[in-house]
Amino acid sequence: MSDLPTFVQGLPKAELHLHIEGSLEPELMFELARRNRLDLPFRSVEEVRAAYAFGNLQDFLDIYYQGAGVLRTEEDFKDLALAYFRRVAADGCRHVELFFDPQTHTDRGIPFAVVADGLLAGMAEAETSLGVGSGLILCYLRHLDEDAAFPPLRMAEPYLDRILGVGLDSSEVGHPPSKFARVFRASRERGLKLVAHAGEEGPPEYVWEALDVLGVDRIDHGNRALEDPKLVERLVADGMTLTVCPLSNLKLCVVDDLAEHPLKRMLGLGLKATLNSDDPAYFGGYLGRNWIATADALGLTKAELVTLAKNSFTGSFLPPETVQARLAEIDAYASSSAYSQ
Ligand code: ADE
Ligand code: ZN
Repeated sequence: MSDLPTFVQGLPKAELHLHIEGSLEPELMFELARRNRLDLPFRSVEEVRAAYAFGNLQDFLDIYYQGAGVLRTEEDFKDLALAYFRRVAADGCRHVELFFDPQTHTDRGIPFAVVADGLLAGMAEAETSLGVGSGLILCYLRHLDEDAAFPPLRMAEPYLDRILGVGLDSSEVGHPPSKFARVFRASRERGLKLVAHAGEEGPPEYVWEALDVLGVDRIDHGNRALEDPKLVERLVADGMTLTVCPLSNLKLCVVDDLAEHPLKRMLGLGLKATLNSDDPAYFGGYLGRNWIATADALGLTKAELVTLAKNSFTGSFLPPETVQARLAEIDAYASSSAYSQ
């Protein structure tokens, strides 16, 4: 008999919703502050962790942008990425499509190349030393003007062969996807995939706009789509992937209790949901913890866990032959595992 943590650890899976700046652990925050001779408004790691009590998305974003201020050099970004990859390699993660927020760094004078080169160096090392592959998704900050999203797209030009796509993150309510129609069109014209946070705190209309105005390939979160049966029907018909983040939803009060999380309901409706960590250093768990805590709270079956693992690859931007190989590995693993639930 294999237990749930053992089964989950061995299950091949991908992470499709991860903000690399959200993997900055307080220990590394202090180390980078020391290395870069910066003062932090906290005296200890414990004090930082005690500040991680959020009533909503904005409470979190305020502290998240402040934390990112310790990231200054290429080496900092590489160390940040590698620390994250070591954690998820231990969780049995094989592939990550990670978000980064260039404007958070360029707006405080850090060159785009420092951020991108540092992250790409960490990603390359993770592939060779840990066997975790990855791709980068450049996110536009939606609380800023659409005009402010064009410079990062321009700065990304020399990196287009190493960037999978663009996304839309930060404060959702009051900043609908349609505000970014032009920059998403320009991004698509450059051959980039498109994703957007929608329906985390914002209404179902934002999910409709992400689909119909931006033409996204994937929806990040999407929880509030469940309020609109026609939208659910559309998402199912399109086979649209939702990158769902249960521990994030709990920490940001999108749900009051993990046992009330809609993930199982989404699967039951035929939605192509995946399980992800969002900002693991802030929300109490990396990929493995999200899988185990959610499976426990919702009583996810072995078949549902297998579906989630398969969705994480079929919803990825990996080449079709790699996806097929991972699906075969998942089937082989599931049929050979003694885990039954
Ligand atoms: N940036 C980092 N995490 C985010 C989230 N969960 N929603 C929107 N923007 C984010
Ligand atoms: Zn997110």
